[in-house]
Parts: sequence; C-alpha cells; structure tokens
Amino acid sequence: MDKLVVRGGNPLTGDLHVSGSKNTALPLMAIGLLTNGPVTISHIPDLKDISTFRKVIEVTGATVTGSPSDHQLIIDASNLNRPEAPYELVKRMRASFYMLGALLGRTGQARVSLPGGCAWGPRPVDLHIEGLKALGAEIELDAGYVVAKATGGRLLGGRVRFEPSSVGATINVLLGAVLARGESILENAAIEPDVVECCLMLQKMGAKIDGIGSRTLHVQGSDTLNPVSYTNCPDRIELGTFMIAAAISGIPGKPVSIHHANPEHLGVSFMESFDRTGAGVEIDGSTIRVTAPEELRPVSVRTDVYPGFPTDLQAQWTVLLAKAHGNSKVLESIYPDRFKHIPELHRMGVNAIVVGDEVVIEGGKRIQGTSVMSTDLRASVSLVLAGMIAEGETQILRVYHLDRGYERVEEKLAAAGIDIKRVSYDEWADPN
Ligand code: EPZ
Repeated sequence: MDKLVVRGGNPLTGDLHVSGSKNTALPLMAIGLLTNGPVTISHIPDLKDISTFRKVIEVTGATVTGSPSDHQLIIDASNLNRPEAPYELVKRMRASFYMLGALLGRTGQARVSLPGGCAWGPRPVDLHIEGLKALGAEIELDAGYVVAKATGGRLLGGRVRFEPSSVGATINVLLGAVLARGESILENAAIEPDVVECCLMLQKMGAKIDGIGSRTLHVQGSDTLNPVSYTNCPDRIELGTFMIAAAISGIPGKPVSIHHANPEHLGVSFMESFDRTGAGVEIDGSTIRVTAPEELRPVSVRTDVYPGFPTDLQAQWTVLLAKAHGNSKVLESIYPDRFKHIPELHRMGVNAIVVGDEVVIEGGKRIQGTSVMSTDLRASVSLVLAGMIAEGETQILRVYHLDRGYERVEEKLAAAGIDIKRVSYDEWADPN
C-alpha cells in the first residue's frame, strides 16, 4: 500500500499540467459500446478508475485496446455478447452503473450489479432505474443485481423528469434513449460539462439530440450509431484543485501556470468565489495563471449543480478557508455528510466544526503535519493540500483513494517545487 509524504512550507512555483477528465472519460467509454466498430477516445487519464472500467467493458465481449500511458483507448463492441456488469468490478467504481443504460440501449437487456454506497454515505440510483423504466425497460432487483429487459427487445422513446438533477442518471438514460425507437424528452437534465461532452460525442456518432447544454434534451432515437474518434475534455476538478493549491502555497506576485485546462468547465460560481479570495487569475487560452495574494480572504460557499460551486471541490476549498484569516463556512447541498476529511484536518489543527450540512471554519490557525487517513478521492487530495501548508511532515495514508482520480499527482506537484514523495508501507506492520 502507498502513502504520500509531504513536507510543508515549500512554495508552489512554475507549471502544472491538467490531465483528461475522469468523470467525462468514463461515460465516453460506455458510449463506445453503442456501435459496431472501433471507437477511439483520446486524452484519457491514466487512472485506477479507467483501468477498472476497462475491465468492466471487457466482460461484455467488447475489446479495449491502447495503453493508458498513451492516454488513448480504442473500444470495439462488434462482438459484444454478454450484457452484464459483475459486482466484483462494479463495487470498485460506481460509474460502472453506466453499463445499465449502455447495454439496454445496445442489446435491449442488461444484468448490472447495484453499486454500493461510498465513503460518505448512500448513493441512490432510483433516478437511473425510473428513467429507464420510462423508456420501456422492465427492471427487477435480483440478489443485488439490476436485471433489465426492454419490452419487445428495444427501448421506446419516453418522457423523463429528474428530481433532483443527476449527472449519472441523465447520462444513463441518454445512453438508452439514443438507440430507442421514437422520441425521448429528458427534463431537468443535468448540464455539467460531462453531460454536454457525452451529447457532443453521441451527436458525432449520428445521434439526434436537441437542447444540448440546456435542462431539456430532446432525443430522436436512431437504429444504429457510427464508430467515431473523440477527444476527452480536461479535468475541471483537477484544475480547481490546482488553482486552490496555487492560491494557498504560491509566492505572492509570482504566478503559477496551469496548462491544458478549460476554466469554462468550472462554472461561474467557483471562478467568482476564487476571485473574492484575493487570488489573481489570468486566463490565456488553455493556460490559467494563478497568483497567490499576500493574504487570502475567507469566502463562504454553497455547493450546487453546475454552474454552481462543484461539490467535488468542497473539501479542497475547506483547506483554503483554513489558511485564510477569519471565519467562514461551506454548505454542502448535494450530498449529506460529505465531510469525512474534517476529522483528519482536525488532527492537523484545522478548526472546523460540522453542523448539519455545513462546516464552519475558523481560519488562520497553526496547521501541523501528522499522519492522516484518506477516506475518499476528494478528501484525500484535501489532505495533500493541507500537508503543503502545514509545519513539518504529513503522511497521507491509503493513497489508493487518490490514485482513482488524480494522475501522478505527487510527480506533478514535485515538479512545481513541493516536497512530496510516494512511499510504500505495510499498514498492519507492528509499529514497535
Ligand atoms: C457524479 O456522480 C460524479 N461522479 C461525482 O464525482 C459528483 O460528485 C457528482 O456527479 C455531482 O456532481 C462521476 O461522474 C463518476 P449525481 P453522480 O447523480 O452522477 C442524488 C468524484 O469525486 N441522486 O449528480 O453519482 C445523489 O444522491 C465523484 O469524482 C438520487 O437521489 O452524482 C446526489 O445527492 C464523487 N438518485 C444528487 O442526486 C439517483 O438515482 C446528485 O448526484 C441519483 C442521484
């Protein structure tokens, strides 16, 4: 098992590079199952979640070639013959549930394991299931699996309304609707960049989708879709994470350049909140230059669906607030109790109290390095950020959580001046 060891105090300087988006690459891979023939997806990040999903796709008889280090995959579902997604793989990565819509759309049937919860609580899939039922799928639960069958062998167009707005459910229903017979209307659809990119790739394959980027999608089902080459977009959450890193540990007056980024994908709320901290932002095409202020201002935020403040940046923002002098709070409106990082930040001296769905932070306190435990992807990267500004050494344990969503993060940060290294360790070794 690996840990990251960070010695705080080094300034972040120079350049950082954003990888391809994890949360977009995953549904783009599922889209590859909707056609007969090679679908090439480039700018794929080299992450644990990608290799897990690759295995899920290969279970169906589809082939996946290309190496993650080339950041390109070729999916060929010509020989897809097993419309299943087994628990052993789905339990590792809930986005595998996209297989339900993809297999139903492509074959008219699917047997997909229900995804479990995650570190911070239940992750329901009722909207996915109800949405696909509205397209004529007969769905039952059997021994932890969702067993689905399209009446008559093919999904039918239908009307679906998502309450609340759901990225995953919107994409899963879309995967079914594009090959259904007839028109579907998806209301209160999610408009996150992940959804827009899926629509654009599907449109390039011949799907007929109107309203892309709006909360109402009109889909005219096609009989077949064509193989295509598509380029994944940059990871907006990695961009936001690096911008926060630069704001808290950059040298005032000396910009940090973050390359291969798309700031549009962060949404206006994050960019406005970031400006209000006093950090400088200069957008130069796909390069974002961030300059740390002499003193960070505390800016309270409330997470929301796009273009609101991303919930996936909530933990990282808390570290920025811990450095800023003054009181502030973060209200998490998407997920109950997405605060597993708070007890770990407490151990470092961060004064933060969870009250219901918000965390109240008294910033400017001394932050000390120590050993802390990763619990989930975004919580673990917030511990790395805290280690960068802490006094002394911080050991972030169980860093496999972080490897799910950040490509070679220690190499990227070390190349920008941070004292960070990856170390193997035996978690159960006797400490004496
Ligand atoms: C996606 O998850 C992302 N994951 C999450 O990122 C992200 O936090 C989330 O969207 C919100 O932006 C991937 O893209 C793989 P939702 P998803 O359905 O699709 C409720 C990360 O760190 N809901 O938009 O599962 C749900 O409980 C991960 O990269 C239902 O009630 O999120 C939540 O409160 C973490 N019923 C809200 O909707 C459902 O059937 C939004 O969830 C589905 C969701």
